[in-house]
Amino acid sequence: MSTDLAPQVRRRRTFAIISHPDAGKTTLTEKLLLFSGAIQIAGSVKARKATRHATSDWMEIEKQRGISVASSVMQMEYRDCVINLLDTPGHQDFSEDTYRVLTAVDAALMVIDAANGVEPQTRRLLQVCRARNTPILTFVNKMDREVKDPLALMDEIERELGMTVVPFTWPVGMAKFFGGVLDLRKDQMRVFSPGEDRVAGTEEIVDGIHNPVLKERFGAAYEQAEGEIELVRDAAPSFEAAEFLGGRQTPMFFGSAVNNFGVQEVLDALVDLAPPPAERRAMQRVVQPDETKFTGVVFKIQANMDPAHRDRIAFVRVASGKFTRGMRLKVARSGKELRPNTVVTFMSQRRELLDEAFAGDIIGIPNHGVLQLGDTLSEGESLQFTGLPFFAPEMFRSVEVADPLKTKQLRAGLTQLGEEGAIQVFRPVAGTVLLLGAVGQLQFEVVAHRLEHEYSCKARIMPARYNVARWVTCPPENGGDKELQRFIDGNSHRVALDAVDAPTVLLEYAGELRAMQDNWPKIQFHALREHA
Ligand code: G4P
Repeated sequence: MSTDLAPQVRRRRTFAIISHPDAGKTTLTEKLLLFSGAIQIAGSVKARKATRHATSDWMEIEKQRGISVASSVMQMEYRDCVINLLDTPGHQDFSEDTYRVLTAVDAALMVIDAANGVEPQTRRLLQVCRARNTPILTFVNKMDREVKDPLALMDEIERELGMTVVPFTWPVGMAKFFGGVLDLRKDQMRVFSPGEDRVAGTEEIVDGIHNPVLKERFGAAYEQAEGEIELVRDAAPSFEAAEFLGGRQTPMFFGSAVNNFGVQEVLDALVDLAPPPAERRAMQRVVQPDETKFTGVVFKIQANMDPAHRDRIAFVRVASGKFTRGMRLKVARSGKELRPNTVVTFMSQRRELLDEAFAGDIIGIPNHGVLQLGDTLSEGESLQFTGLPFFAPEMFRSVEVADPLKTKQLRAGLTQLGEEGAIQVFRPVAGTVLLLGAVGQLQFEVVAHRLEHEYSCKARIMPARYNVARWVTCPPENGGDKELQRFIDGNSHRVALDAVDAPTVLLEYAGELRAMQDNWPKIQFHALREHA
């Protein structure tokens, strides 16, 4: 890095927490904010979650939409670093949103409930991180409870996630015999004391992980931990930054978030180990984070609460340069210009977040539909970042309007909801009935509700016979657009166009897909579309 912006880039860390519900994500988020000084009293994040979590009722999710804007990005300063923590939706029916948020981070913190080990949602999210080689830190939570044996946990993580685990700390005992952790790198033991009152710097530390005092004090639990460490030292490779940064090694920490224990180590690891923003690939070229000109990409769109205003907030991850309020920005897709004067405030200690942002930071730009998911913003250069994923829906519904006079409203509403990523909308090339595609059932319910309340359009959402969707393309060497058109004409009864007019084939059975692939060897079928 060379420019004046380099120091600002170097001090940024942008990450998300991935976990299965109930593993402790909310608790840890809150404690990270507390330890960094971003909040003074624990409780605010938790309170918000209570409403979100109290019910799986989508009306609640709906209510949360407005409130959650401020908390969807949390910024804290810790040591010399500016840390951006991006929140991810908890409900798995909205996992598509989570996948897209993961494209905007440079690292992920995986929280595992030590009693449950690796759970399904963690596994799924991890796959997304692995596909992008996102570096992952692991926090094993709830050591104050009756939990799995740490060696078994380590083994499980390695096996399930296909990563080498490198323990940085090791637990002494568990549940009511949880004595604390041995810090294998600092050669000391941090003694556990329950309670939430303690903050940074007040822990009891005993120097030397082989200090005889420890055996006297913690007895069998310590002896067992000492034995386990020997095993781990023989078996596990030493930590290598390159392996971690490539997503092949994960440093592991043990703790108890609710008891404030192990939180500081995680914050330190984020500063010491997690990478600053890296270069980003655009279709035209690779963009360096410390380039002087601003570039950024929209990775999330959130509708505002007030149904009367069709305001939407586009979450933009800064990829390079410096954002200043009121600067002139160009949307690459449409060529339109934008001059964001009002920028949404996220939860932050830093007032200047409003006025300037650097690579790794997130800005929220209110707009009326000028910005879509995947859009690239620049100071004028025609640039399109790649890598924002859309997943082939697994559930389909057809949608009709109850009152034919409202057809226009239906189309407008669905176009906007599609642009937000709330649902995927398909227009069959033959036929007029629109199709909706989703990954989770709740998405349909939210869409029906929002169509009615925001677009005054009561929609009939009915079962559709499809279960499989694949985007279809044809590379030039296979005949390109001509061959693709031949495919579309030959299958027009089951081809539809998505929000960006990408042709998609819709099928009833996976078996049909195989037959189609055999019949059309020059056509490529994709379960994932990256915004282009
Ligand atoms: P999530 O966001 O991943 O869904 O999890 P959350 O932080 O809400 O934690 C889920 C439950 O686990 C909460 O209990 C929380 O207090 C508890 N928890 C978090 N960390 C620890 C820990 O280190 N040890 C123990 N024993 N429990 C922990 P709850 O009963 O659901 O909520 P609450 O009544 O405590 O708020």
